Amino acid sequence: MRILKCKNFSDDELIDFARGLSSFNGDIREQLLHWDFGAVMTMKFDPAATNYLFSDEAVPFHWDGAFYREPRFLLFYCLESEGGGGETLFADTEKIWESLSVDDRARCEKIQLTYRTKKLAHYGGEIKVPLLQSHPVTKRPILRIAEKVETALNPVELTVAGFPGCEEFFHGLVQMLYREEYLTEHCWESGDLVIIDNFKYLHGRRALGNNRHRSFKRIQIL
Ligand SMILES: [Fe+2]
Repeated sequence: MRILKCKNFSDDELIDFARGLSSFNGDIREQLLHWDFGAVMTMKFDPAATNYLFSDEAVPFHWDGAFYREPRFLLFYCLESEGGGGETLFADTEKIWESLSVDDRARCEKIQLTYRTKKLAHYGGEIKVPLLQSHPVTKRPILRIAEKVETALNPVELTVAGFPGCEEFFHGLVQMLYREEYLTEHCWESGDLVIIDNFKYLHGRRALGNNRHRSFKRIQIL
């Protein structure tokens, strides 16, 4: 995880910077994930939001690109933020894996997760993924512990399968994400530029509270 202070970056400057971090050369579409809106997504509170990402609600832990294509790095650039609220949370799943007992590691290997959501924003569908995966670059074990999203605005359903009692075991893993030894919480100031490994870390955010002007640019780097 890297945090830089960079005031007044334009979208073009952010794109140039992000492309330099890609594992690929050449075409911009091979370097940065593109959606309907292009490569740069603006994230800000919208009182008419149909998806919780753009509401003032907390965002449970997840990784990006799960329903489409998983980027290697995420770049967040803060345009505006006023005090507390909307802190972004990062959980280190390699550290969590290292802390587990041999028996719990064996339980992780058995778990399959099925996520479902309607496509009301730029993503959606149904995916089935193993909880335990390996990092595509470092090859170290990582855990894909995305939380169920319980909201009126585009919920994400989750089915946990693998062995009797696996839902309770998975719930215990979710609680570990919020333990301070695995959690990094970033309180934003305008000009903060954060780059995060989308495989090693999961991310989420606290509810915006009074920080309704919080706004970002986000780029997903392949
Ligand atoms: Fe995300």
